[in-house]
Amino acid sequence: MKAVPFTFNLNSPDFVPSEFDNHIQRRLSAMKGQFLDEAAYEALLNAANPLLYEVYELQRPVQPGELQHGISIVHPGKVGSEYHMTKGHFHEVLETGEVYYCLKGQGYMVMETPEGEWAVEALSPGRVLYVLPRWAHRSVNVSPDEDLITFFIYPGNAGHDYGTIEQQGFRKLIVEQEGQPAVVDNPRWERTAVP
Ligand code: F6R
Ligand code: ZN
Repeated sequence: MKAVPFTFNLNSPDFVPSEFDNHIQRRLSAMKGQFLDEAAYEALLNAANPLLYEVYELQRPVQPGELQHGISIVHPGKVGSEYHMTKGHFHEVLETGEVYYCLKGQGYMVMETPEGEWAVEALSPGRVLYVLPRWAHRSVNVSPDEDLITFFIYPGNAGHDYGTIEQQGFRKLIVEQEGQPAVVDNPRWERTAVP
């Protein structure tokens, strides 16, 4: 970890940072219970267990004042009619926001609060999204053939709470309907988060 100001490049065609500390790869097997169509999930898992997304992290000390940042890449594809997506999380320190800057692709950020409010915002190149403190967030790639690539930055001490979303899911899902992405209710959503 660097103790002096530093720079890195994002100008490779696939936006992989020229320097990073951690490369996370999440396959379908890490997403059990998150996709609505369980039969499609099992079939795909047994056939290929595809790589759904990758994250390149520039890791900073876990403390207020620092900023964690990096690149998130969601690969295209679907599980049943539901598009590839990240696990999604609340920040462990709930009152911490995050900025996403979309570099490539077409997608959505699905968000919700512990109180059950929800929001869905489109992501396309050049678009900046401010995720407010308290809002869980999940990115979804709706392109048939292109990666969804975003630069993210959030407080050093935010941490991640994955368990709440693993248990309750997101209130809204992004599915393909008549060839177009549509926002639909998640019939399995159960509010367990305690504000
Ligand atoms: C960090 C953040 C992103 C995500 C990344 C992968 O707070 O929101 O860097 O971590 O898009 O998604 P998750 O972490 O939900 O697997
Ligand atoms: Zn986050």
